[in-house]
Parts: sequence; structure tokens; C-alpha cells
Amino acid sequence: MTIRVDVDDLRTKVRSMYRQVAEAPDGEFHFEMGRALAERLGYEGSELDRVPAAAIESFAGVGHHADLAALQPGETVLDLGSGSGMDSFLAARAVGSDGRVIGVDMTEAQLRKAERLRDEYGLTNVTFLAGLAEALPVEDASVDAVISNGVINLAPDKAAVFREIARVLRPGGRMAIADIVTEQQLTDDIVCDAALWAACIGGAAQEHAYTRMIAAAGMRVEVVQENGAYRFLSRSAQGATERFGVKSVSLLARRPG
Ligand SMILES: C[S@@+](CC[C@H](N)C(=O)[O-])C[C@H]1O[C@@H](n2cnc3c(N)ncnc32)[C@H](O)[C@@H]1O
Repeated sequence: MTIRVDVDDLRTKVRSMYRQVAEAPDGEFHFEMGRALAERLGYEGSELDRVPAAAIESFAGVGHHADLAALQPGETVLDLGSGSGMDSFLAARAVGSDGRVIGVDMTEAQLRKAERLRDEYGLTNVTFLAGLAEALPVEDASVDAVISNGVINLAPDKAAVFREIARVLRPGGRMAIADIVTEQQLTDDIVCDAALWAACIGGAAQEHAYTRMIAAAGMRVEVVQENGAYRFLSRSAQGATERFGVKSVSLLARRPG
């Protein structure tokens, strides 16, 4: 997708929205959040019971990727756009004390909340790092799996994000993500609406363009499945959804071994 937005301005707006998601999850948003959403998307209640409730309150994901990720004990996992930490904490339980989870996010308030919850719950195998998906603060070929939920649609340069993911994955490593894509290319009035962008709509790429960018980064797409249970809340968001076929998908891709 051609970039038609002011990247700095957009990042300021995205950070502002996700600061509110961290600090005031009871507020009004274009999108749903919290435990009821997580369970509807496919997260197991018994799994959610094992992570901090305050992380679940600020969960703003768009799908479910745990089945595709199939994390194993001892693995190193990168959670891209880790937010308040729900997926990072679930991953930490899955990889166990011999494994490691690195959460990366660009919003200070999300990182602070995730770190506070990690310390309160003694989840010692999780590290949170400030950073951009387009320039990950992670070494080459150092992780077994990258997970990400509701994040890459927010990045203006998705091709750069997928190149970074391919760079940090070890050969044979996998990317299991949930994200928003569209059936038809969005028009400029939607793309240039910063509120819709920060709500995970305006930045969504057309599905085939999205998978082409993954392939161009050197990963092989293995599975794409729709998350039919995801819905936007506001009227403007629903309007765009109907017009352009905005939808949530879960996707598994692999860096060849
Ligand atoms: C919709 S929230 C999802 C958070 C978390 N994955 C969850 O499921 O609750 C998007 C998160 O991605 C972060 N984010 C957006 N664009 C980013 C970028 N380019 N680099 C790093 N983090 C980014 C935001 O700060 C926010 O915390």
C-alpha cells in the first residue's frame, strides 16, 4: 500500500489511543476489549484464569493465534505489539521456565502496565522492550515464533514489519498472527481518518497485498483463516467494514529452514 499518511502524526494518535486502552479500559472505543471478547475469539477460560485480570481488561486483539503458534516448552517467542501483556503472559505459561518471551511495543503506558503486572505475578521469563515493529530491538535469527494480535494493520510500512519478522526468526521459525485485512482496497477518506486508522481499520491492507508482502519478506504463508467472531463497535467502523469487507484473519507463515 502506498503511504498517504503523516507517519509521526499517526504514531502520536495510535500511542494516545493505546495509552487509554492501558489506563482506562472502561472508556468508549471503536472496538471491543476484555475477557468476553477474548473468550468469543477462542481463548480458553481456563487459560485466561492463569494470567493477570488487569491484562485481560486491556486486551484489544482481533483474533486468536494460539492454535497456529502451537508454542512448545523451551521456545523463545516475540510478541509484536504486546500491549498490556495478555498474549505475552499466556505465551510465558506455554513455553515455561526454560523458554523466554519478549514483548515489544511502542506505547509507554502499555509497556509500564505490562511490566508492573509481570512483576506482581512473578512471571520471570518475560521481558518487555520499547521499540517499533519496523525496527525491532531483537537480534537476527534469535526467536522460534513471532506472535502478534491486532498490530500490523496499524503500521504504515507493513513490508518493513514483515522483513523485520523474517530477520528475527530462526530458519524454520514461524509467525502466527491475527490481524485486520480488507477484501477491497480502502479509499483515501478511510485511510486518512486517523481515528479509524488507530481503531484498526484505516491501515488495513487488502488481503492479497498483505500475503504478497509476507512472501516478499521471504516467508511462506501456510494457513489463513477468518475470525468471524470479531466485530467493530462504532457506526463509522461498521460502515467501513461493510463497504470494504474489513475482516479479521489469523495467519501462519514460516521462514524456510
Ligand atoms: C490493538 S493493540 C493490541 C495489543 C495486544 N496485542 C492485545 O492483543 O491486546 C495494538 C498495540 O500495538 C502497538 N503498536 C502499534 N503500532 C506499533 C508499531 N509500529 N510498533 C510497535 N508497537 C506498535 C500499540 O501501541 C498497541 O499497544
